[in-house]
Amino acid sequence: MKIMSVGAESKVFLNGNEIIKDRIKKGYRIAELDKKLRISRTKLEFKILNKCYSLGIRVPRPIKLSKSLTKIFMEYLGNKTLKDNFNIKYLNDAAMMIAKMHNRGIIHGDLTTANMIIKGDKIYLIDFGLGYFSQKTEDKATDLFLLKNALKAKHTKVYKRAYRSFLENYKRYSEEYEKIAERLEEIESRRRYIDQG
Ligand SMILES: Nc1ncnc2c1ncn2[C@@H]1O[C@H](COP(=O)(O)OP(=O)(O)O)[C@@H](O)[C@H]1O
Ligand SMILES: [Mg+2]
Repeated sequence: MKIMSVGAESKVFLNGNEIIKDRIKKGYRIAELDKKLRISRTKLEFKILNKCYSLGIRVPRPIKLSKSLTKIFMEYLGNKTLKDNFNIKYLNDAAMMIAKMHNRGIIHGDLTTANMIIKGDKIYLIDFGLGYFSQKTEDKATDLFLLKNALKAKHTKVYKRAYRSFLENYKRYSEEYEKIAERLEEIESRRRYIDQG
């Protein structure tokens, strides 16, 4: 088994062509509560993964939950992230998938180009560790706002063009684009106000 990543919340291992994502202990939490939280987060992440997979959204194929309920087994998609291999055409494809998720009330929670993997000629979404179910316009707009900021930070030179193109594609598939775009404007102006101190 090869260790792929150690994050604040989880360790990711590669075993053959399977990824094992293990939600790790948080020392500062009471052990019993910690276990409960890890289990409920892991189950939710697995549920979202399954839901997306069954909707035909490109995500790693979910395999199983461990008996401990703190590990997810899923398909390994390779190591080519959109972050390191940026290309607007894949981002546009992701926009379509994100709009479809939002239509079904699935919020990703951590949209960045590091959580998008290119396999073959297709883009896949990974890491539903902060995902949840919601039909709130605010939650969908926040998902997009986070992606915009991630693009700005990591793909500064192309981000304006990339984000505009992303939104055009998102709009094409979203069932309530006008409401979401309006809320996005509000979030951004709130943010500008805060940034000005
Ligand atoms: N299904 C997968 N296929 C390929 N790589 C993966 C997969 N799942 C996770 N990874 C790798 O492990 C890293 C961490 O996994 P991720 O689900 O993003 O957890 P975290 O919450 O720690 O960011 C990813 O950035 C990616 O490099
Ligand atoms: Mg991640």
